Amino acid sequence: MEKILIQGGERLKGAVKVSGAKNAALPVMAACILTEGWHHLKNIPRLKDTQTIKRIMSGMGVLFEEQDGVLSVNTENIRDCQASYDLVKTMRASILLLGPLVARLRRARISLPGGCAIGARPVDMHLKALSAMGVEMFLEGGYINAEADHLNGAEIFFDIPTVTGTENVMMAAVKAKGQTVIRNAAKEPEVVNLAGMLRAMGGRIEGDGSDTIIVQGVDGLQSVEEHTVIPDRIEVGTFMIGCAMTGGEILIEGCRPEHLAAVIEKVQAVGAEVKKSEAGILIKGPEVIRSVDIETMPFPGFPTDLQAQFMALMCIAEGSSIIRETIFENRFIHVSELIRMGAQISIHGNQAMVRGIDRLLAAPVMATDLRASASLILAGLVAKEGTTEVHRIYHLDRGYEGLEVKFRSLGAKIWREKA
Ligand code: EPU
Repeated sequence: MEKILIQGGERLKGAVKVSGAKNAALPVMAACILTEGWHHLKNIPRLKDTQTIKRIMSGMGVLFEEQDGVLSVNTENIRDCQASYDLVKTMRASILLLGPLVARLRRARISLPGGCAIGARPVDMHLKALSAMGVEMFLEGGYINAEADHLNGAEIFFDIPTVTGTENVMMAAVKAKGQTVIRNAAKEPEVVNLAGMLRAMGGRIEGDGSDTIIVQGVDGLQSVEEHTVIPDRIEVGTFMIGCAMTGGEILIEGCRPEHLAAVIEKVQAVGAEVKKSEAGILIKGPEVIRSVDIETMPFPGFPTDLQAQFMALMCIAEGSSIIRETIFENRFIHVSELIRMGAQISIHGNQAMVRGIDRLLAAPVMATDLRASASLILAGLVAKEGTTEVHRIYHLDRGYEGLEVKFRSLGAKIWREKA
């Protein structure tokens, strides 16, 4: 096991290039299953989660080749349709394979994901929607066994907008007979990125990016010549927050500011200067950090995947702030670790009240999930008196590509060691 060590106190300076988004890469990799041939994907980040989906798909007979930053995926011979518990328990997003497998092979056997550190995270809405499209499913030994003689279009209404649920249904619907309408669909940029890939394969999709997506099923799809994964908006947000915390000045290259409107607005409210240009986002941290309330919401609202990082920022703000988490019921596990660094935070239901203090203190802390890990690293960047040690960073490696290397290139004193 490895740990990350940080000696806080350096202002971030310089330029950093953002990687492809994990949550856009996983669905487009899964979508390759929909039709045979070579698919060529650009900007796939090198992460534990992208390795995990490759391992699952390789076990099904999918071939992968990587050259000059392009991941080529061959789905000619799929001989198996199973995603085993061993791998699904390490990555819940494996459920994304269900839609494409039933669309291509008319059957799938996927381990049902259990709960995770941030919440129960059921997949009932995925299953209900696929069942309305003609998929028969039963649970056996912890696995969802799915079979479909035919796949029909359907009217789907999601009680809550679900990102991977919307993606699963879109992937099944492109090959279903007739029209599928998804209401209260997720509007996240990752959904739009997947829709772009499906269109490049010959799928007929409209309305992605809005809350109503209409898919007309087609008979045949072709493999995709080239599809580029969007930049990781959560990584961009993490750098923006790091810059605001350290009073630095950085240029974040290769990002899409339109994916970050809510985050930019909050970071400006804190006192940072943000300039958007062709080159990316230029951000200058404030001398005094103002406290600002946030509430997590589906896109275009403030993303839950940046809540823990924003909380680290509020820990050293002037005054108090309220952070309300509305997406996941248990996404405050980072709080007790931040408290070990001197933060003053109290939790009341789904709200955290953060009283800003002058300085955080270095301490050994434990990462509990992916975004909590990033929050603790940010706290470490400003912590005084010693070295912060962040343990269990395998969570970080699931979703950030060389985060500590990128922070080091911006002047932070941060490195990785064997624990
Ligand atoms: N939900 C249900 N039933 C379902 C599906 C979802 O009750 O069948 C609930 C969830 O428990 C949650 C809400 O609906 O309360 C929204 O969850 P959603 O389905 O949108 O989450 P997800 O698709 O499982 C994706 C990201 C998460 C991100 C959320 C919210 C991927 C692979 N994962 O998860 O990313 O937090 O959307 O934006 O796209 C992360 O990267 O750290 C991460 C957790």
